[in-house]
Amino acid sequence: MQKLRSIVCFVTCSILCGSLAAVAQQPPVGYFDIPPGFDYPANKQTLEQYRTSANVPAQRLHVWNVFAGMTQTTPDGKYPIFETWFSEDEVFKVGPEPQAVGPRRIVRRFKQPAQLSVIPGELLPQAAGTALLSEVLYNYAGYKHVRTNRLYLTVELDALRANGAPDSVVPGNRIIPAFPSEAISLKTVWWPIARDQVTALPIWDPESNPPRPAGNPFTTWARVVAVDPNQTNVPPNATRSVFFLGKQFPNSHLVGIDAFHAVKLDAQTAQNAMANDRLARAAELALGRPLQEGDYVVLVASHLTTKEIDDWVWATLWWHDRPDDGPFAADRPAKVVGVWRNFLMSATYDLDLPREPDGKPHIAFNPWLEAGFPDGGSGNGTVSNCMNCHNRSAWWPDWQGQGGRVFLPIFRGKPDLQNDPAYAAGRLRTDFLWSVPFNSQ
Ligand code: HEC
Repeated sequence: MQKLRSIVCFVTCSILCGSLAAVAQQPPVGYFDIPPGFDYPANKQTLEQYRTSANVPAQRLHVWNVFAGMTQTTPDGKYPIFETWFSEDEVFKVGPEPQAVGPRRIVRRFKQPAQLSVIPGELLPQAAGTALLSEVLYNYAGYKHVRTNRLYLTVELDALRANGAPDSVVPGNRIIPAFPSEAISLKTVWWPIARDQVTALPIWDPESNPPRPAGNPFTTWARVVAVDPNQTNVPPNATRSVFFLGKQFPNSHLVGIDAFHAVKLDAQTAQNAMANDRLARAAELALGRPLQEGDYVVLVASHLTTKEIDDWVWATLWWHDRPDDGPFAADRPAKVVGVWRNFLMSATYDLDLPREPDGKPHIAFNPWLEAGFPDGGSGNGTVSNCMNCHNRSAWWPDWQGQGGRVFLPIFRGKPDLQNDPAYAAGRLRTDFLWSVPFNSQ
């Protein structure tokens, strides 16, 4: 018996260790984590206390610090640190470890956000006309967790659904191994700027965009700024007329390319993006033509989630030409430097609290990514909360048959375990990350 057990142990270990060995134990050369000095990772109890006491300024300051850390420049001065992280394609690639050897090469792999076109080749009808360049990134701890547990394989998810650990909250559900507390995921959004013409960039001003039942995608926003690719140090009051979506926007605020984290596209990256017809559509909307070598893409928004607390810390940032005004500018410390000070931020540590002034559950959304969601009865995407939607993420047998529109409509507040189909029995909960069911193969 003893002998048999040791043989079983040996065999199990060889299988497990074999698959573990395939994942590099150290991040590749050229990869960088958030350096010390940015309150990351913070003490879990401290953050939980910010949550229960609804200490919004403390919650926000922590997120600003993390943002300051991830936007520090790499030692070679070439990139903000987060750009060395792993793209979704690398995280969920089937087959040998993409990063096992050699120094890391930054290849930007733009996609259409799955949440805007979840059925291949088909846009959500409500968001028709919108298209964006996006890239989901994972830091090394998040990447390693997906690779080690083979969460990129649907057979693995099926096995966990059958035999994984029971979920402690949702009856009849199981759960994937929880991500480690160092895991971070981002969802970045980029806007094209022509190399040779002043380009319009839509701006979200809540007061001039009342909620629409069909959603408030960027194609409906009232104002744009004019971005000049060839000017820097533009005087603060400069204006310019600019053309966008078939009409002229006179007297638009003129800003230089130096107000952004801008990436000049090489021929290959431009070509790769244009091979995808959704991204070609995004370029057509922004520029009236395909992306070309020498054009820029500028970072206009990013989602940020860290596993510092069990339910993850959720935050989102978006570029604004008046970044020092209003509640989303509050609490920004001096550690956030340069172009990164041009971002507004909203954070949430809870899907309910603190309540909004109207007594309803807490809101945290990004105008670029969620505002476009239609009103399904509880309000449109402008009253959504990251955690409510992400808490619903799961894998179940007919996932692919459902085409993926499963994250809508918008729900608010505490989860409705009885009536919301997202919590039906027999599901494998994916630790809040929608990209697991969306990307596994
Ligand atoms: C109504 C649903 C919904 C809401 C609300 C929502 N998301 Fe997501 N999110 C998704 C879906 C679906 C994906 C995966 C597909 C994709 O990449 O578009 C995703 C992907 C992500 C990712 C990449 C990692 C992952 O989970 O796959 C991050 C990070 C993220 N969202 C953060 C946020 C933050 C921060 C907010 C709030 C400001 C937010 N999300 C609001 C549906 C939502």
